[in-house]
Amino acid sequence: MTPQDLMKQEVGKAAAARVKSNSIVGLGTGSTTAFAIEYIGKRLAAGEITNVKGIPTSFQARVLAKQYGIPLTTLDEVDRIDIAIDGADEVDPNKNLIKGGGAAHTQEKVIDALAAQFIVVVDNTKLVDKLGSTFLLPVEVIPMAVSPVMKAIEKLGGKPQLRMGIRKAGPVVTDQGNLVIDVKFDSIDNPAELEKTLNNIPGVLENGLFVGVTDLVLVGEVQGDQVIIKEM
Ligand code: A5P
Repeated sequence: MTPQDLMKQEVGKAAAARVKSNSIVGLGTGSTTAFAIEYIGKRLAAGEITNVKGIPTSFQARVLAKQYGIPLTTLDEVDRIDIAIDGADEVDPNKNLIKGGGAAHTQEKVIDALAAQFIVVVDNTKLVDKLGSTFLLPVEVIPMAVSPVMKAIEKLGGKPQLRMGIRKAGPVVTDQGNLVIDVKFDSIDNPAELEKTLNNIPGVLENGLFVGVTDLVLVGEVQGDQVIIKEM
């Protein structure tokens, strides 16, 4: 395992340890949360916790939950989410996030925002002083609106590019059947305002700015030959 994978594993484990019996858990998307899902499943299998139901944020999360034996439910069947665990692509000092590296940010935002406690799991490479400094901002768009949305984003000062598939001809298609535009902004000075402005462009479904949603960030860090977990 690379040091980064080790950080992801330990931070995922630390988040999974916070899941209690009789709870509804939002299951995030990505390589870090995948470890959390694995360890929630292992704790259930060991009888350490009981009566836990997951709500997946993506096709990937649903597949992993089934693989690790976590029973699933939906937002139509429950009236609360006790805890959600999810990764992030960038985390700023105010615990605001950029998400959507896996094109799953729309369902993630629905579930993470509903949770009584939203825990973000990252390795320390994800910490930034200002959002947008290392990662492009993902924006999910309905397919027929891609051209006008790109023009509107350019007017806001962003440089948009359509996300293309890897080992798939053509663009990435989201779990909802939409497309993703990744946007370079020189500086995101007011994430709360930009989140609203982008979502107000006709044809935009959701963007990857998560502002004021995070309760706790667990950060994995390599120190010597050990991984330590810091709380933010
Ligand atoms: C999915 O769309 C994203 O929001 C992920 O949660 C984010 O990209 C973090 O993924 P990793 O844990 O794989 O870095």
